[in-house]
Amino acid sequence: MSTREVILTGDTPTGQLHLGHYVGSVKRRVELQDTHDCFFLLANLHAYTTRADHPNEIHTDTLEIVRDYLAMGIDPEKAAITLQSEVPAILELTFLFAMLLPFNRVMRNPTLKDEIKVKGLGDNYSFGFPLYAVGQTADILAFRAHAVPVGEDQVPHIELTREVARRFNKLYCGIDENVEDDDPIMEEQGVFPIPKADVGKVGRLVGTDGVQKMSKSLNNAILITDTPKKVKKKLGQLYTGRQSMTDPGDPDSALMDYVDIFITCEERKAELKGKYVRGDNIGDGHIKVEVAEAISELLAPMQERRAQYEGDDDTIIDIIKEGTARANAKTEETLAMAKEASGLKFFSRELAFTGAPV
Ligand code: TRP
Repeated sequence: MSTREVILTGDTPTGQLHLGHYVGSVKRRVELQDTHDCFFLLANLHAYTTRADHPNEIHTDTLEIVRDYLAMGIDPEKAAITLQSEVPAILELTFLFAMLLPFNRVMRNPTLKDEIKVKGLGDNYSFGFPLYAVGQTADILAFRAHAVPVGEDQVPHIELTREVARRFNKLYCGIDENVEDDDPIMEEQGVFPIPKADVGKVGRLVGTDGVQKMSKSLNNAILITDTPKKVKKKLGQLYTGRQSMTDPGDPDSALMDYVDIFITCEERKAELKGKYVRGDNIGDGHIKVEVAEAISELLAPMQERRAQYEGDDDTIIDIIKEGTARANAKTEETLAMAKEASGLKFFSRELAFTGAPV
């Protein structure tokens, strides 16, 4: 059995992934897949919280994310690309974990509150909407993950997950509440390690409006499939508020964030930043063009890889089928442990459907 640490993270299918996903999370995953047991979850059931009336879109979006994963360098031989809706242990654990969380605690989750506001849900959200936050704790704990690479906005979900894991280990495995989170006892005597949020260097990439977090629905995203011309045009719209080439620029501006993230030559980066901050005869337009070129250079190999899978759903489905089988091996083991600890084990489960009449 593998002794490597387990990494779990996921994405709700809401359309193509963009540059913010790449620098915020996927880039880190590509590094981790060499050294950790990685599971990347296609959280397709979560998409039903607000789009249950668009099942076909969710279906297509799910396959599109896999194309983006492959384009960005995720290797299905190394990491298990997992389809949430075919991992029953996640759903079973969700029910159990829902009992370990006070309802009000779930509703206090700032990410949920924010989504209610941003999506204008008012009090018209489904029961399943807050339930997804409980489901996300099960997504993570079903894999007994040690770390969860995510953007900043997901940290409250990981906090909730840590609480569930602690409560379960305390209630059902007799672990004292004063035991430190990273004490090996958590895993030796408990069922769940207490997972850490692994927030990348770029927790939040500002969109091309220069203000909001990059997001497809806010129309400020650079997509992986954008042509160099499109990238240039989108970056041209980045607002800086600077008036002239001799204006001292703000070192914390969105434009400087982009320079920091996308200009790979350290010397050139320092030179651009220095000139900008001093107002040393350098225009925003010039910097934007240089950043746009750097971004297009980053995207070119991704677009090439993505093109290989265009229109080929069968290959994509084979990849998720294989990843999901690996995920089920892992999560069924967790479920058996959790059932045993929590009084739900009466006999060992054997679900065999092959050959049964339907
Ligand atoms: N809620 C996450 C998002 O919208 C996606 C997600 C689902 C996830 N399950 C997860 C992220 C488990 C990390 C771990 O981006």
